[in-house]
Amino acid sequence: MGRLWVPQLVTTSRSLLLWVALLCLAPAIRSNGPPKASLTLEPPWFNVLREDNVTFICEGFQTPGEESIEWFHNGSSFPIHQDAYNIPAVNIKDSGEYQCRTKQTALSNSVKLQVTSDWVLLQVERLEFMEGDSMMLRCHSWRSKPLYKVTYYHNDKALKYDSQSFRYVVSQVNYTHSGSYYCTGNLGKMTYVSPTVFITVQGGKPSTTKVVIIAVALLLVIATIAAAALYYYKRHKRAANASDETGRIEVENSMSFSFLKDTDNLEEEASGHSIYQNH
Ligand SMILES: *[C@@H]1O[C@H](CO)[C@@H](O)[C@H](O)[C@H]1NC(C)=O
Ligand SMILES: *[C@@H]1O[C@H](CO)[C@@H](O)[C@H](O)[C@H]1NC(C)=O
Repeated sequence: MGRLWVPQLVTTSRSLLLWVALLCLAPAIRSNGPPKASLTLEPPWFNVLREDNVTFICEGFQTPGEESIEWFHNGSSFPIHQDAYNIPAVNIKDSGEYQCRTKQTALSNSVKLQVTSDWVLLQVERLEFMEGDSMMLRCHSWRSKPLYKVTYYHNDKALKYDSQSFRYVVSQVNYTHSGSYYCTGNLGKMTYVSPTVFITVQGGKPSTTKVVIIAVALLLVIATIAAAALYYYKRHKRAANASDETGRIEVENSMSFSFLKDTDNLEEEASGHSIYQNH
């Protein structure tokens, strides 16, 4: 019984190690396949006003001069094949999700464009940020008419902003930057209030860091179990081997052997002694 237990534990922890290794490798295996094209918006604001000028730029290992790009709006392709798609004056119907693909790449990330009809708009690159990202807000007027007395608000509190660029910039956001934002500004003598946008900041970059920490902790625990199992297994083997020579060494090492002995050895010893007695 005592003999079986230790090697079983060793093989169990070995297969566990194999499983952990497979689990760690799985994401790398899954990310195989052609690279994705990269789609960006220029200027970067996802929300724009009617008649604004926007350009989508598709990057994906395109051979220069080759015009084989496919563009998709709300999932349907449209007949543009250059790597940049410019809309000089957007309309409400240009709203939606855009994607692109080149001959060498898989379908790109999806980029959202939201076109509204208004006097003043608080523009943002996106509505969701990760802790540590930079964030930029821009108070924008229809046809970029001159805006005066611009004020930005976060959860109804006025914010200080960069008086040079007239933009509100946060170099590293944290959860305190979540919440509602809007801006106000004067066009002539009239004060206009933008629609409110809701921004969420998600904590840290938790998923990958946490997974790595858990994997390392798991590996340490398994390595410890394996090492302990191996140690006991070897000690057990040594004790078993030694028991064959007990007669010779027992006197010298009686202290240490009394510590190493277990029931199996005692039985062997007992049988060994009985053989001696028979002779
Ligand atoms: C695309 O989808 C958006 C929102 O889902 C919609 O407002 C827009 O009209 C759609 N445009 C086309 C051309 O399908
Ligand atoms: C969040 O960011 C602001 C400004 O960038 C900073 O003053 C504040 O200390 C930060 N708060 C936390 C909890 O990190």
